[in-house]
Amino acid sequence: MEHLKVNGIEYEINADPNMPLLWVIRDILGLTGTKFGCGATQCGACTIHLNGEAVRSCITKLSRAAGQEVVTIEGLSINSDHLAPLKNYKMFQVANFHCYFVGDLSCLATRRLQNR
Ligand code: FES
Repeated sequence: MEHLKVNGIEYEINADPNMPLLWVIRDILGLTGTKFGCGATQCGACTIHLNGEAVRSCITKLSRAAGQEVVTIEGLSINSDHLAPLKNYKMFQVANFHCYFVGDLSCLATRRLQNR
């Protein structure tokens, strides 16, 4: 049993500690905004924030995330503190992302850069 905080909600996860965090997020928690693309750290479709750092959830094991804070694209909701600063960027005011992969990665990567 692993403890995770995802988008501000505490979870106890009963799964293989070697399970990629991507599948925990999608299949166990039902947060399907995080996508599977390449499975090899190349595309960034699976990007999440783990304690504020952008990581590829396709290669991050559940055991590595245990006890830490995860933010997914769902956590960057319009009313959250995480997304509010992005509203100032023209890109996010006019963009109509046709690709969820690009939209999710762009939001998470930009938010990470703001935190530096
Ligand atoms: S799925 Fe492509 S980097 Fe994780």
